[in-house]
Amino acid sequence: MKNKVLKVLLSSLTIGLLLLVSACGTSEKTTSGTNEKPASGSGDNSHKKLRIVTDANYAPMESLDGDKIVGFDVDILDAVMKAAGYDYELVNIGWDPIFVEIPGKTADAAISSITINEKRIKTYDFSIPYFESINKILVPNDSPIQSGADLKGKTVAVQNGTTGQEIAEKILGKDPQHIKKFESNVLAIMELTKGGADAVVADNAVVEEYAKNNPNKNLKVITDTSFPSEFYGIMLPKGSKLKANIDNAIKKIIDDGTYTKIYKDNFGTEPNIDVLKKQF
Ligand code: ARG
Repeated sequence: MKNKVLKVLLSSLTIGLLLLVSACGTSEKTTSGTNEKPASGSGDNSHKKLRIVTDANYAPMESLDGDKIVGFDVDILDAVMKAAGYDYELVNIGWDPIFVEIPGKTADAAISSITINEKRIKTYDFSIPYFESINKILVPNDSPIQSGADLKGKTVAVQNGTTGQEIAEKILGKDPQHIKKFESNVLAIMELTKGGADAVVADNAVVEEYAKNNPNKNLKVITDTSFPSEFYGIMLPKGSKLKANIDNAIKKIIDDGTYTKIYKDNFGTEPNIDVLKKQF
């Protein structure tokens, strides 16, 4: 008898706890994504944290140092958020989920070396550009590949859903045998270093950094000047109210020298501000 009562008590306690946990879960889901109010300065005093997402597998732009996300994009984001007066948290969710969370509005913004292009602007909004980039080809030192055209007939590893994949497909067609797609750029480079691919196509900063930091892998970077110049932007849900403030904050950190300082600290060279400003 005693036992039965205890069982009933215990199971109703468990159900109660479960209900509580799931209630917390849903309330979190429904409030995030509506965080389109500035944390301060709008007069409404709602100190909401923006959820900003990234794929921290893309050094030197965004990568993990222990469990800390570091890199150029991370520094830029922090300066932009400070200038805009927003409270935020940056969360490493991987690349493909970014393109689910932004349209689903479970994230307020994404920063992840995301190229602003015609296809994407149909579905997402972007800030004004904050970085110029170009895709380059990473190959073994002794590779005969000298240009994009030389990739024909070769096997190319790319990160799925990137402009690197698009460029590879333009040259090779959508041939799954010759284009190996990976969830992260790190995995694409691993495929190359273990001999499963002849080349990787990815953003210049990333492939250059990898070749430089891993001399024992004997890799070199090939530039094909026919690859288009690209610009990164902070990606937002369509119609996001954050855009105007974020754009102004980007302009502000460029004008007050913060951008140049961050650029120099990260890359050791001067940024070409004019090329960015021409895009505004
Ligand atoms: N710039 C390229 C693109 O937008 C690649 C970006 C990949 N970023 C990353 N964090 N993995 O398609």
